[in-house]
Amino acid sequence: MKVLIFFFIVIATDVYGSVPDYFPHCKKSDPQIEKCFLDAVESMRPRLKSGIPEVNVPALDPFTVPTLKLDRTASNLRLKATLRNMKALGGSNFKIEKFKLNLNNKYLAEVRLSIPKLVVAGDYDVRGSRILTVDINGKGKLRGNFSAIYVVAKGPAKPIVKDNVEYLQVDKVITKVKIGHGHIALDDSDSPAAASSAATFFNASPGIVLDILNPLVEETTAAVLKAFLNKILGGIPIKDILTDETNTS
Ligand SMILES: *[C@@H]1O[C@H](CO)[C@@H](O)[C@H](O)[C@H]1NC(C)=O
Repeated sequence: MKVLIFFFIVIATDVYGSVPDYFPHCKKSDPQIEKCFLDAVESMRPRLKSGIPEVNVPALDPFTVPTLKLDRTASNLRLKATLRNMKALGGSNFKIEKFKLNLNNKYLAEVRLSIPKLVVAGDYDVRGSRILTVDINGKGKLRGNFSAIYVVAKGPAKPIVKDNVEYLQVDKVITKVKIGHGHIALDDSDSPAAASSAATFFNASPGIVLDILNPLVEETTAAVLKAFLNKILGGIPIKDILTDETNTS
């Protein structure tokens, strides 16, 4: 009996390489390959929260972003900001509304997901900036609650070779982001009067401000998502998650 169990473990390890078995192991030819990936994501969900360090999956909840540099000028917006130590709570409650995968000679994915609520906190430093006519300079701490968030992300990935092993890397991510509601607070500011009026302005009409910020939000989401996915994909050989008939052993 012991021998048999040992044998089974050896086989399992051989088939799945170094990737844990709750990871997706989907067949390219599977007509329900999308379902295969979705089921795998659901079985990983409890672990996504604190991350899976042995395969480079960062913690999702809280999700941390050490530094974000924002720089954008439009007719109603001039923003030059650095956000540091950003932390978002609630990301692991994402719901995948739709997932499409096209593996015809390429790796093209599209995912639509919703997040009921994100609680965000971090340090901001904004210089020489305004939204509409409101001056938003200063530095301090930012807290925000955002709800009814919808994200559509799509993009191609391509195989790269590291030490004779093939990995997938995302080439480009395009996102659409919609945020239903937001409420912010700016604390410990070096210019409390400006911070207070900026927060009041945002909270009086979050929809308008979020609309103005939307291109920046979408661009930032795409960059963060791309880095997140590539960190994960960089540690998992393609053959360990996506098998075809000829290389399943
Ligand atoms: C976010 O929501 C929590 C409770 O749901 C509340 O305590 C906190 O003050 C809110 N923060 C902001 C910035 O609105």
